Amino acid sequence: MVLIDGKKVAAEMKQEIAAKVAELKENGGKAPHLAAVLVGHDGGSETYVAYKIKDCEEVGFKSSLIRYEDDVTEEELLAKVQELNEDDDLDGFIVQLPLPGHISEQKVIKTISPTKDVDGFHPQNVGRMVIGLPSFVSATPFGIVELLNRYKIDMNGKNCVIIGRSNIVGRPLSVLLSQKAVNATVTVAHSRTKNLEELCSSADILIAAIGVPEFVKGNMVKEGAVVVDVGTTRVRSEVTKSGWKLKGDVLFEEVAPKCSYITPVPGGVGPMTRVSLLHNTFMAATNQIYKD
Ligand code: GUN
Repeated sequence: MVLIDGKKVAAEMKQEIAAKVAELKENGGKAPHLAAVLVGHDGGSETYVAYKIKDCEEVGFKSSLIRYEDDVTEEELLAKVQELNEDDDLDGFIVQLPLPGHISEQKVIKTISPTKDVDGFHPQNVGRMVIGLPSFVSATPFGIVELLNRYKIDMNGKNCVIIGRSNIVGRPLSVLLSQKAVNATVTVAHSRTKNLEELCSSADILIAAIGVPEFVKGNMVKEGAVVVDVGTTRVRSEVTKSGWKLKGDVLFEEVAPKCSYITPVPGGVGPMTRVSLLHNTFMAATNQIYKD
């Protein structure tokens, strides 16, 4: 069994990006600039945004953090998005989700300029990805494909089962893995799927992205399967300094012994998600997606 080291691969990718940024600056270019908009004080969102800002610093990007309280109006937030769209100093930005209930996430996402949508959430980027045009691809699916590629895991003709159909992970990942560059045979399973255990047991590659801690048990996994755990549920912990720890969607102790490859939580998919946002921001700064 090979434990896939997402932390190590992400660190390598970060170095590659940092080197390209240094080169850009040496040639008189400006540092890529990412902004994050954070509404409210949700613990998870605070952590993720803090990581995003820290990651920017580490590769030589400029970053900006724009904060609002929970009671910001939709109108005010949309006006800020417009302002960011028009800010020539800014290459890309993200609005951290979830947003408070009185704000339409879809409206916010649709207002972001597709050329600055480094989250890859705008319908134009999702559509472009589906038909294989250059696009910003959301960070977790991009990171997973990159991770499997860098481990040289051959997915050609393999049965891949993805549990979870979210717009951010399951659905876009199903598209990427079925494209000709990868050639997997993909099934998307969800809460209404019948015979889920049987289906999962048929998978050469099993991807758990449902957000239910330790959902995937040993009896759901084929001997020799590749298992990717996208789960990052925060659970209380007496042991850690922060008072919480991350739990994956896979019951690791039962599943890992059956796998050829498995991603741990933490240290698997998470770091790849983080570095993928840097990748997208670099692509935005160097106009590599929307060239004309
Ligand atoms: N909330 C959970 N994941 C993400 C993400 O990748 N981007 C944004 N903007 N919000 C999130």
